[in-house]
Amino acid sequence: MAMAGSAVGLGNIWRFPYMVGEHGGAAFIIIYIACCLLVSLPIFFAESIIGKATRKDTFGALESLAPKSRKVGYVAILASFIILSFYSVVGGWSFDYLIRSCAGGFSGLGLDEAKTVFASMGGSPVESVSCMLVFLGLTAMIVGAGVDKGIGRFSKISIPVLFLMVVLIAIVSLRLPGAEKGVEYLVKPDFSKIDGPAVAAALGQSFFSLSLGVGTILTYSSYMQEDENILSAGGWTAFFDTVFALIAGFAIMPAVFAAGIEPAAGPSLVFETLPVIFSRMGVVLPVVFFLAILIAALSSSISMLEVVVAWLVDQKGMRRSHAVLAVFGAAALLGSACAVAPRVFSTCDFISSNVLMMIGALAFALIVGWKMPRERVLHYVRYRFVYMLIRYVAPVMIVAIAVTNLL
Ligand code: PFF
Repeated sequence: MAMAGSAVGLGNIWRFPYMVGEHGGAAFIIIYIACCLLVSLPIFFAESIIGKATRKDTFGALESLAPKSRKVGYVAILASFIILSFYSVVGGWSFDYLIRSCAGGFSGLGLDEAKTVFASMGGSPVESVSCMLVFLGLTAMIVGAGVDKGIGRFSKISIPVLFLMVVLIAIVSLRLPGAEKGVEYLVKPDFSKIDGPAVAAALGQSFFSLSLGVGTILTYSSYMQEDENILSAGGWTAFFDTVFALIAGFAIMPAVFAAGIEPAAGPSLVFETLPVIFSRMGVVLPVVFFLAILIAALSSSISMLEVVVAWLVDQKGMRRSHAVLAVFGAAALLGSACAVAPRVFSTCDFISSNVLMMIGALAFALIVGWKMPRERVLHYVRYRFVYMLIRYVAPVMIVAIAVTNLL
């Protein structure tokens, strides 16, 4: 559940539905699933093997398996920290919008007014920084409570609830007059739109969506029980993540089309378009929607914080509570810079997703594919073709998307 929580996040809600629509509907979904199966899932297994085989934090795990590459551990931990900082800004916006929707602030809202509300929130440093701090504080409280009592318990309760909430929104959305156009946008296959950039987009999205390359899967796997199976943990996480992204698409796009609004991605979809649409459906739906976004964001942010905390506890001998406080303080600083300066935000996003994540994922695949003894890897992945995917296909594809995205 915790791994599924890490995977299911803003990436599923604000990027996936739009990407599907823009890149050829069902054709893109097929490519996305193929990318997951052939590249992302093998990297997931590789990261998971490193964690389970060593039972250490990201740095310690690499140090014991491939001492010369141990510094890549820092890259992954840094990536987790940077993503945590800018992700918390968006988490803070979700918190802000949840409070506004509870206070009935969205009733009768028009698109122009929604734009003004979003701009004024972003333009008010006090509001965006304080909401970011609330979000980061919630993340720290969950992680501070421990792996079982904090992360485990939160995930076991919140992920099923989150799933139910999104299904509820999808049912309401699909019953709106004019919803068919949104369904068509998502499923109508257009294979002519499948080109190199579309494949790179699918791969990049599946990386981000499965939280790969930054040590979250490694760290969570280091807490697995001995008899827990890496193949089924990874398989279920990827399955759940994809199903969730699809349901989020059916919750969002039919409502967007029914309202006659142009679909978008990113902040403008979640914080401008959707408040307008959901506000036309009573007071409860906006509350459910923003609560869902908040839970999805929290279940991902706790996994990023845990990577850094596990490193401080294991390598620096810090007490868990002190480590949580220290990372909270540092992320609060970078998060504040992201909250007030859009350029800092987008630079953090770009560097972590296009550079650091790729370096981490490549290192994990190479260490498991080329450095670990073959028999040891096969003990975990059982099938020879999975080993081949980790050893050959994953590294080549990571380099290919990194180059495509950076050019
Ligand atoms: N998988 C998350 C999402 O789709 O929103 C994002 C994410 C979580 C990225 C955790 C990286 C990470 F370590």
